[in-house]
Amino acid sequence: MAEKTNQQVYPLAPSNGNPRSDEESNTLQSKELKKKKRIKLAIYIAAFAVFQTIFILVFALTVMRVRTPKVRLGTDVTFSKLNTDNNETSPSFDITFIAQVRVKNTNFGPYKYDSTTANFKFQDVNVGRVTIPEGKAGLRSTKKVSVTVNVNSDALKITSSNLGNDFKNEVLTLNGQAKFTGKVELMFVMKKKKATEMNCTMVINLTSKALKDLICE
Ligand SMILES: *[C@@H]1O[C@H](CO)[C@@H](O)[C@H](O)[C@H]1NC(C)=O
Ligand SMILES: *[C@@H]1O[C@H](CO)[C@@H](O)[C@H](O)[C@H]1NC(C)=O
Ligand SMILES: *[C@@H]1O[C@H](CO)[C@@H](O)[C@H](O)[C@H]1NC(C)=O
Repeated sequence: MAEKTNQQVYPLAPSNGNPRSDEESNTLQSKELKKKKRIKLAIYIAAFAVFQTIFILVFALTVMRVRTPKVRLGTDVTFSKLNTDNNETSPSFDITFIAQVRVKNTNFGPYKYDSTTANFKFQDVNVGRVTIPEGKAGLRSTKKVSVTVNVNSDALKITSSNLGNDFKNEVLTLNGQAKFTGKVELMFVMKKKKATEMNCTMVINLTSKALKDLICE
């Protein structure tokens, strides 16, 4: 049996007879092989296209997406001067504090912002302001800018205020606001304008001379 099969295999060798049928089967085989190869190649190309599409989508949704930077005040506020006069007819304050403005940039590229002014308000009246110089928050990082702010009740003297009520509660509530304009740079070439706002409400405990609350929107 084994010999028979061996003999049957022999005719397939090119040196033996029937070269035509051999060639035919050879071309048939190679055609089949080529077809298989083409299908394989098509599958590879399709898989690559799908992979590339997913890659581009993910890239567009993460790396190339421009997110709005967030600006807030840090919680570690130190008071270098805290004078309050709880005079019932005309209460007043004169406070100097050092705060940290934090520009949080979650983009895959730096955020370059222009110089701006932060206004500190007591019930919609400006009581202090500070200039924040232009700067840059790096790729996915937070730029911390130390600012020294003086707020006083001079501007409140003309307007009637509820300062007395705040003082009775041993607190002073201030609202710090700043508008930032700038550009987010992606992949070193693409630049996109991006504006953002800081709006923080800080409650100062006048007895302990410390920050009681800080809420940033
Ligand atoms: C409160 O302030 C007013 C105006 O500045 C002043 O005339 C008055 O003497 C002050 N009262 C007290 C108790 O300090
Ligand atoms: C800032 O925040 C305060 C309190 O959360 C809110 O009343 C006020 O409208 C905000 N201002 C701006 C300009 O968004
Ligand atoms: C302010 O701080 C003092 C001392 O720590 C505390 O006794 C008081 O309750 C605080 N006041 C407010 C309104 O939080």
